[in-house]
Amino acid sequence: MSVATSAPPLPVTRTSSPRPRPSEDQLGFGKYFADHMLLVDYVAGDGWAQPRIVPYGPLALDPAASVLHYGQAMFEGLKAYRLADGQIALFRPDRNAHRMATGALRLSIPAIDETLFVQGIAQLVAADRDWVPSAPGTALYIRPTIIATEAFLGVRASQSYTFYVITGPVGAYYAGGLRPVRIWVERERVRAVKGGIGAAKAAANYVASLQVAEEARARGCDQVLWLDAIEHEYLEEVGTMNLCLVIDGMLITPPLGGSILPGITRDTVLTLARDWGMPVEERVISITELTAAHRAGTLQEVFGVGTAAVIQAVGTLTGADGDLVINGGQPGPIAQRLYDAITRLQYGLDPDPRGWRVII
Ligand code: COI
Repeated sequence: MSVATSAPPLPVTRTSSPRPRPSEDQLGFGKYFADHMLLVDYVAGDGWAQPRIVPYGPLALDPAASVLHYGQAMFEGLKAYRLADGQIALFRPDRNAHRMATGALRLSIPAIDETLFVQGIAQLVAADRDWVPSAPGTALYIRPTIIATEAFLGVRASQSYTFYVITGPVGAYYAGGLRPVRIWVERERVRAVKGGIGAAKAAANYVASLQVAEEARARGCDQVLWLDAIEHEYLEEVGTMNLCLVIDGMLITPPLGGSILPGITRDTVLTLARDWGMPVEERVISITELTAAHRAGTLQEVFGVGTAAVIQAVGTLTGADGDLVINGGQPGPIAQRLYDAITRLQYGLDPDPRGWRVII
């Protein structure tokens, strides 16, 4: 455990009109925002400068700002947890900092300083510490974002950017909590392609998913299983999460090949499973193999792993060829064990030998 607020304090302008905090039993996801935000500006030649904490509020953007035309935008997602002893901790924020800094390069966005990322977020959460909820399963969701702000319509990378971080209290990402979800297997449209920007947390990857997700919802599904862009055969992600399967006792996840987001929960899952001596494979796996394993009775579990939901069991995969019900539509024991272990680490209920918790 380390204390992230030992850095020099950033200037803070406190709000003069704090907002009422929502009741913790109806938080949902992404609906409420805390009182303050972190802002950092980038100007070519000067680098990232003037980090400051200010009241939450609208950003002034020129209508010609590049982000509005050519989509230079990326974000991150992490959470601050209220621990059993009342302290507040981030979970592996250095990994989010690193992912944002490396993903930025693919989008021609200047890398954010990783120390500033972690320290700035720690100080922002400290400024809004009363907003960190304490009911079981709740957290303060943290949304770091970078947008291109230069007013210029030529097609090239912007010369100025804003990095901002907003936060807000959240409950479960899926309204049904751990309830296994129903997933549409999309055979035609794709989320990302190798050589594209799928490995960066680019805003554009999410817009590519919306139409398919909407149609999936109209079919009574919660989310989409994404296949590869060339053969429409190899499993990539599920909804906004990385994908894990258990076949015959083996935990399998598709490898990071350029089109898959390098998830921090994915890394946490792989690290814990290996620690436990569980057989683990990062390898390509096709929908044909999944279907054959289901038919043979060896497909034991399918689940998504991500920051927002942590672990989300898949109860049913559905597509043009009908339904595959996984584990009788119930969360499996490995998904449950991982969920319990990760949330116990996040909420300070288990020892933290790797120093993943960062107390603020
Ligand atoms: C996650 O699964 O953690 C996400 O990235 C979801 C987020 C885009 C709301």
